[in-house]
Amino acid sequence: MTTIDSILDHLAASLDTAQKARLLSGGGVFRTSAEPAVGMRAIVTSDGPIGVRGERWDEADTALALPSCTAMAASWDEELVTRLGALLAAEARRKGVDMLLGPTLNLHRSPFAGRHFECFAEDPLLTARIGAAYIRGVQGGGVAATAKHFVANESETERLTMSADVDERTLREVYLAPFEAAVDAGVWAVMTAYNGVNGEPMAESRLLDEPLKGEWGYDGLVVSDWGAVRSTDATVDLAMPGPNEHWGERLADAVRDGRVPESVLDDRVRRLLRLAERVGAFEEAPPAVGADPAEARGLLREAAAAGAVLLTNRDGLLPLDATALRRIAVIGPNAATARIQGGGSAAVFPASVVSPLDGIRAALPAGTVLDHASGVRTSVRPRPVEPADCRNPSTGAPGVRVRFLTADGTVLHVEDRPSGRSFEVDESVDMNGLHTIEIRTVLRAPSAGRWQIGVVGLGAVRLEADGRQLVGEYVSPESDDPTYLHVSPSFRQVGLDLADGQETELLACRVFEPGHGRVLALTADPPSATPAEELAAAVELARGADAVVVVVGTSAEHESEGFDRATLRLPGEQDALVSAVAAANPATVVVVNSGGPVLMPWRDEVASVLLGWFPGQEGGDGLADVLFGHAEPGGRLPTTWPAADDGPAVPHTRPDGGRLAYREGLHLGHRGWLREGATPAHWFGHGLGYGDWEYLAVEVPQQIAPDRGFSVRAVLRNSGTRRSREIVQVYLSRPGSAVERPVRWLAGFAPVHAGPGCRVEVQIDVPPRALAHWSTDERQWLAEKGVFTVLAGPSCGDLPLTATVEVTATRT
Ligand code: BGC
Repeated sequence: MTTIDSILDHLAASLDTAQKARLLSGGGVFRTSAEPAVGMRAIVTSDGPIGVRGERWDEADTALALPSCTAMAASWDEELVTRLGALLAAEARRKGVDMLLGPTLNLHRSPFAGRHFECFAEDPLLTARIGAAYIRGVQGGGVAATAKHFVANESETERLTMSADVDERTLREVYLAPFEAAVDAGVWAVMTAYNGVNGEPMAESRLLDEPLKGEWGYDGLVVSDWGAVRSTDATVDLAMPGPNEHWGERLADAVRDGRVPESVLDDRVRRLLRLAERVGAFEEAPPAVGADPAEARGLLREAAAAGAVLLTNRDGLLPLDATALRRIAVIGPNAATARIQGGGSAAVFPASVVSPLDGIRAALPAGTVLDHASGVRTSVRPRPVEPADCRNPSTGAPGVRVRFLTADGTVLHVEDRPSGRSFEVDESVDMNGLHTIEIRTVLRAPSAGRWQIGVVGLGAVRLEADGRQLVGEYVSPESDDPTYLHVSPSFRQVGLDLADGQETELLACRVFEPGHGRVLALTADPPSATPAEELAAAVELARGADAVVVVVGTSAEHESEGFDRATLRLPGEQDALVSAVAAANPATVVVVNSGGPVLMPWRDEVASVLLGWFPGQEGGDGLADVLFGHAEPGGRLPTTWPAADDGPAVPHTRPDGGRLAYREGLHLGHRGWLREGATPAHWFGHGLGYGDWEYLAVEVPQQIAPDRGFSVRAVLRNSGTRRSREIVQVYLSRPGSAVERPVRWLAGFAPVHAGPGCRVEVQIDVPPRALAHWSTDERQWLAEKGVFTVLAGPSCGDLPLTATVEVTATRT
């Protein structure tokens, strides 16, 4: 036993049962309980994974917004992801956070999944390697990473209650594998999922004992997902948030009357104290120093470009030569309004955002004309009033006044805010007796027309204009998922005709009800042209330009925690927009701005398709770097992109009778497409970059021992005209295998760089696990004796090099 373990044992032994049980229940929404008796302050947690939101869910509490996890994984760049992890650690320190609630290590089982953007990849090996790199970066900065959601939380529909039914071999080889790698990387915390697996809720699951704490030797903390502890039988260590009615005192009683052994309680406390020791919670919180802002923005810009995937590039349209353009049209609903992240608990509030339009404008030489039109509208949710449109009636400054009142009108708290959106208030504000929340502002119409004025919130809501009631009704919740209510609360809108320059005083209010959250927003959407007029204006601009960039995509409104997508079709009339623009101008580049796959029925009509994901706050600059060739689009698809909603290997996410059968077993993503003999829109691993790579030769050992792994040596040439980076991917297959196998599976990958015309060699390591399968009879990993085929190339659908290797024995 190490010295630190014996100190932790000693500390745990000094606490009585009640103190121990209290310590295992949160001390607030995002902090643990403190225990002065052992000198431990509260451990502060925060979502993750693409930024450190902090304890408050509030736009006033800003955070750096990194690219979505799909974009990070698309870089296939562990070194870059480790640097991003280190940046997250610095952000956490700046905001007094000890434990980051990420990375999300669930897989892209279905492209419909609401949190697809928040997970890395469809492949367990890629997820494992990128996840481990993230963890190393965060924890290298002294901040705990949290691998979540353990396990099989691949979709949102009925997520709080459904059971994912997954066979043991698939669990081991596919869904548990990234968590096993996280444990190997030394992760300090694991969060259990809301859902069950094979009928057992994950907060009560035996998988926490085996394999997690037993076979894998995990010595860190197991924390519940927020609110997932629903009984004293839960087997997690820490119940969050707290206090939790099933934990704390009830847990102490369960120990006293022998239902929960004291030794179990002790082990949980020891794990919590170990975490406290790791993050420094036996000392004062470290100074709140963050990363250098300019360096941080530079890294986020680099990461946005590194994750961008060039799907097609006919006639080498990209990169564009900025100096040769006289007029460029930037079209699309996501061009001026940056969609940098998905929705739900992962969302953060960046202090600044570079939109695609901003980024492109900044990259153009003086004198180049830039025209912009959105072409279509995709947002169905109303827009909170913005500072440019309104003034605070009490201060006269741009923005709104928010008041929190008791039933008799006593003011508990006042906030002056820039926009018409109100969230949680600081936990330190005493809200005892809270009855009503209201937002007031004076809206000024810059031109005459019909505005849509609205109120967002649940329960008894009211909306007034100049004292006249526009809305007054009781709005019932549409879901029992608290995150859904927070992210997508119901709204009501009313049309209001305003004259040019007319001012109107608006009031939105709601009666506070526990369980309905505190979200209230006052919204005002300005008058707009008709859809036909908007489309025609965009096509007209496209026709007159030397080149067109169309930015289409989704937003947090369409991709979010709390619900799954019903279709992968681009929202609104974006498909029609792309087709019309492409018909008007052949030099059209489409930038897809989404967290996960979308359908691209026009993909053969346009010259270039560049996938930018949800690129984080510096996305616009990163995009411009790629478009104009200052950076290479470094990404490769971390997930197969289907061409239709009902593609042959596209599982849905709807449980049947509360159970979601993972029927495809081992064959998710590209493995499913290969098994079906079907071709998707774009294969896993695909991405063009700006090089032109020839795969010349491959070498592998003839024979290998089963427990060794091996190295593949590949020779390539960059016959393009630019320096470039390629990801060399190695897959294995086992024709004639005695056990069921994917047609082929990813076994390793490595980056390689080369200048124009240069020949390079690269070594790709294949770990022993890539050769192994989980034997459910013997309950252990085995290798199959015999010949495996080794395939190398630029994507799982394009593998020009092959060789064979013989495994000499079956490991026992
Ligand atoms: C999510 C977690 C998140 C937690 C705290 C839950 O709804 O599933 O991923 O960390 O909330 O916000």
